[in-house]
Amino acid sequence: MTYPATRLRRTRSAPWSRALHAETTLSPADLIWPIFVSDGHDVVDPIRTMPGVNRLSVDRLAGAAREAVSLGIPCIALFPNTQPDRRSEDGAEALNPDNLMCRAIRALKDAEPGLGVLTDVALDPYTSHGHDGLLTEDGRILNDATIEVLVGQALNQARAGCDVIAPSDMMDGRIGAIRAGLESEGFDLVQIMAYSAKYASAFYGPFRDAVGSGGYLKGDKKTYQMDPANCREAIREVELDIAEGADSVMVKPGLPYLDIIRMVRDRFEVPVFAYQVSGEYALIEAAVAAGVLDRDRAVLETLMSFKRAGCSGVLTYFAPLAAKLLG
Ligand code: PBG
Repeated sequence: MTYPATRLRRTRSAPWSRALHAETTLSPADLIWPIFVSDGHDVVDPIRTMPGVNRLSVDRLAGAAREAVSLGIPCIALFPNTQPDRRSEDGAEALNPDNLMCRAIRALKDAEPGLGVLTDVALDPYTSHGHDGLLTEDGRILNDATIEVLVGQALNQARAGCDVIAPSDMMDGRIGAIRAGLESEGFDLVQIMAYSAKYASAFYGPFRDAVGSGGYLKGDKKTYQMDPANCREAIREVELDIAEGADSVMVKPGLPYLDIIRMVRDRFEVPVFAYQVSGEYALIEAAVAAGVLDRDRAVLETLMSFKRAGCSGVLTYFAPLAAKLLG
């Protein structure tokens, strides 16, 4: 049927009708809120490159946990800004049962036991060179030796009470090793959300500022993170991570990779998540500060685009704002 029998504007003509015909929904339950943690007491430390986002000390996390629950946000993701004197070549602080991450997990679980806690597994917040893995003297990443440390890091976080382990390091074989480690210690219900298709991206800059690793980073992460030119390779990464025991997979960054999300969604039955990363946050905030975008509308539109592309949920620094707008 063509015009005038078909007029697509009919169903768009009133708010009730638009609500009825919406193909995609977005709710606070779709959101994971990433939070940066730092040492100290009563600290709310603004992150220069992410206006509106602060590093919080552990004693401030109970408040954030209550806010998440009251807004209907089901899960918080934690990222530690490790003190410089606790960073080392081998990232050993990642294995310390009393490190910032473990204290943060316990604080969240004490405050709100029903709130999901997701923790990053990768060595970059703990290494003096800012890489996610162990390095040889000549600066190569040691894949298999790194995995051993990552398993220890994941177990350390599981013992502290986290619900979801999210390996973001992109080493080959780490999902299987971490899954085996979790099983061997009886953490059979701890989930793994694999950063499966994580690209070597320019959009992580503000994050590295937030966790304090950027200043240390020598070189780039292109020998482990994916080439932005590739999509079939993302399918292989996802396939392997599912086979190794991932419960869900992630595509990262978000907006520049919506095609990857859609492809993964169409090929696999596993839940897919997107990470709207720090650079995407900074981009919107810069446009808002310049007076060229309406923040609320831009945020909800980008989050809806992830759902439309097939995501089960989204990690976003806008989680509290979006939950308020949707609530
Ligand atoms: C660390 C990690 C990064 C992010 C999440 N985990 C940065 C990186 O790989 O350098 C980026 C998140 C963001 O930019 O918001 N492995």
